[in-house]
Amino acid sequence: MNILVTGGLGFIGSHTVVELIKNNHTVIIADNLVNSKLEVLDKLHQITGIKPTFYQIDVTDADQTERVFTDHQIDGVIHFAGLKAVGESVAKPLEYYYNNLVSTMVLSRLCLKYGVGKFVFSSSATVYGENEVPFVETMTLLPTTNPYGETKKISERILEDTSRANPGFSVNLLRYFNPVGAHESGLIGEDPNGIPNNLMPFVTKVAKGEMPRLSVFGDDYPTVDGTGVRDYIHVVDLAEGHVAAIEKMGEGVSVYNLGTGKGTSVLELVNAFIEVNGVDVPYKIVGRRAGDIAEFYADASKAERELGWKAKRGIREMVRDAWGFEKNNM
Ligand code: WQD
Repeated sequence: MNILVTGGLGFIGSHTVVELIKNNHTVIIADNLVNSKLEVLDKLHQITGIKPTFYQIDVTDADQTERVFTDHQIDGVIHFAGLKAVGESVAKPLEYYYNNLVSTMVLSRLCLKYGVGKFVFSSSATVYGENEVPFVETMTLLPTTNPYGETKKISERILEDTSRANPGFSVNLLRYFNPVGAHESGLIGEDPNGIPNNLMPFVTKVAKGEMPRLSVFGDDYPTVDGTGVRDYIHVVDLAEGHVAAIEKMGEGVSVYNLGTGKGTSVLELVNAFIEVNGVDVPYKIVGRRAGDIAEFYADASKAERELGWKAKRGIREMVRDAWGFEKNNM
């Protein structure tokens, strides 16, 4: 199939492009480079032997984006392009609502106009809010603590209503947990522009000596060792989940958790990183971060039942591959 991947030069998008090409799909990438680098296109060429067609466009711009649909017979869309920093979304809500919602609406309209019947959306476990763990797709979503999470909830609703009103437009909503790691080649990985937000880029910066120590945001949570527990998932497992989601698209709208079903604490992840990679990661315990919840992890059984997909890689592969990318880009 011809698949349009928006945000295809980003962390999860680029890894998904690799797996799509491996499965003999033709990939067209749209990316505005706000949180990615053009050099990733050459890395994708190196890994797959194919240089995907690339449009440097902003998918909130309907005219620019329509060109992709007139230049190519698109069979499916995987929509990653979006702003995704929880903290930043609190400071810049309008930027988040505009960018994340208008992009979803522009792409949906173009799919209806050009008869594109498969849409995979990059959603997030954040939409569950402070629900009981493990998070299950059938749960009632509780209010989130930030505009980022709300943009994901509203985008899901836009896609659900559009699909219900247009039966030929099928949607898979994928709720990610915490993506980490990198492709085994070390050529692509998590490489955020600017100050990172997530745990793993901070761990690797400390390991590289770019920062003196990691701040661990609280050790007084009701968890295994007091630090935050999350469901970390290897980015290649996540990418494989997207291939399954676009290839096994049903009718209407389906929601899937893409997680491992296993929780790992901050200190467990840091200690695994130190042990597997033989590098030190000095840290200090500081106060809790506003908006954090103690723990969340997935019930990942629905994706296994319906998509035949299950995460295969564990925390040791995640920390090994994350470090492999950093060493390759020292
Ligand atoms: C993980 C754990 C922190 C940094 C967010 C989004 C979610 C998804 C993933 C997009 C927490 C602790 C972190 C640090 C720390 N993004 N931590 N020191 O907040 O679970 O999820 O990113 O889809 O939607 O909500 O990820 O990596 O920021 O934090 O102690 O320097 O690491 O407290 O327990 P989070 P995170």
